[in-house]
Amino acid sequence: MLIMEEQIQSLLREVSAYTAADNQAVEAFRLKYVSRKGVIGELFEQLKQVPVEQKKNVGKILNELKVAAESKLIELNDQLESVASTSTDIDLTLPPIPNKVGNLHPLTLTKYRIIEIFERLGFNVADGPEIEDDWHNFSALNFPENHPAREMQDTFFVEKKKGEGTQDMLLRTHTSNVQIRMMEKQKPPIRAIMPGRVYRNEAISARAHCFFHQVEGLYIDKNVSFADLKQTIFHFAKEMYGKDIQLRLRPSFFPFTEPSAEIDVTCLICKGEGCVVCKRSGWVEIAGAGMVHPNVLKSCGIDPEEYTGFAFGMGIERVTQLRYRVNDLRLYSENDIRFLRQFHTSSLA
Ligand code: PHE
Repeated sequence: MLIMEEQIQSLLREVSAYTAADNQAVEAFRLKYVSRKGVIGELFEQLKQVPVEQKKNVGKILNELKVAAESKLIELNDQLESVASTSTDIDLTLPPIPNKVGNLHPLTLTKYRIIEIFERLGFNVADGPEIEDDWHNFSALNFPENHPAREMQDTFFVEKKKGEGTQDMLLRTHTSNVQIRMMEKQKPPIRAIMPGRVYRNEAISARAHCFFHQVEGLYIDKNVSFADLKQTIFHFAKEMYGKDIQLRLRPSFFPFTEPSAEIDVTCLICKGEGCVVCKRSGWVEIAGAGMVHPNVLKSCGIDPEEYTGFAFGMGIERVTQLRYRVNDLRLYSENDIRFLRQFHTSSLA
C-alpha cells in the first residue's frame, strides 16, 4: 500500500499549493478534491480493500488530506471574496458625492434679500428688544391710552415681578418700537431698516400666527416727502419681484403716521387674475406705511418743524409667500424638513 500512501502525500502537496484566480478555478478544486466523486472520495472507496494492519495508518493520512482539502476550499472562497470587496466596483476617478449641508430658512433668505436691497439705498440695519415696555411699543407711537390695540386680544403681556417698575411689559406687537429707540438715541438724518420677530395674541391658522416677522423702515431728514416713500417702496418691489411689478397705495390709519397707507403689489401667484392668496382682487398687501406723525417726532426729541420722515412696516412672511408661493403660514414654523429643504441659497438671487 505504499503506492496509496505516496498518492495521498502527492495529493496533499497539490492541495496546499493550489491557487485560484476566479470562481471557476475554485469550483474545479471542489469537484476534483472535495466532492464525493472526486479523487479523495475514490481513495476512501479504495481504503475498503486495504489490509487491516495498514488500514489504520492509511486511513489516518487520508483523513488528514480530506480535512486539508476542505479547509483549502474555504480559504480559496475567502480569498476571492476579499479581492472582490476591495478592488472591484470602486472607481476612484468618480467625483465625490457632495456632503449635504443645511440651508437657510426661507424667511431668513427673504430677510437677507430685503436688507441687501435697502443697504444699497443707504439704509443701516438696526435691532431692538422683543420684550418691550408700553412706552416704546405704544405710548411714544401716539397710541391713545385706551386704544383697542393695547387690549388683551392683541397683545401678550409679560407678568411683572414685584419691584420691577411701573410700566407694563409686553411682547412687541410690531417692529415700530425700534423706530422710537433709534430716534431717541440718534439725531437725523436717520435711514435704517429694522427686521425682527413680533407677537400677537391670535388664533393660529393658514393666514394668521401668534408670531411673525416684520421689517421696519425709517427715514428722517429735512424735506423727506410722501413721494420719497412711494418711490423707495416701488424700487424695493421691482428689485424683489422684477420690473413688471405694480404698486398700489390705499389710504389707511396708524396712530404713528399721518397720512397713512397700506401698500399692495400685484399678486404674483395668479398674475393679477384673482386667487385665494389675493382674495380674488389681484393685489396683495405687503406693508403699512406713512409719514411719521409730528407727535412721534416730538416724543423722541426731534423738532417736527425742522424734520419730516417716512416709516413703513413690511411683513416678511407675506413677501416670502409671493416670492416662493408658500400659501400656509404654519409651514414656516413646523420644521418639516421636506418643506425647508426646498430653499437653497442659490434662490437668493
Ligand atoms: N407697525 C405697523 C403694523 O404692524 C406697520 C407700520 C409701520 C405702519 C410703520 C406705518 C409705519 O401694522
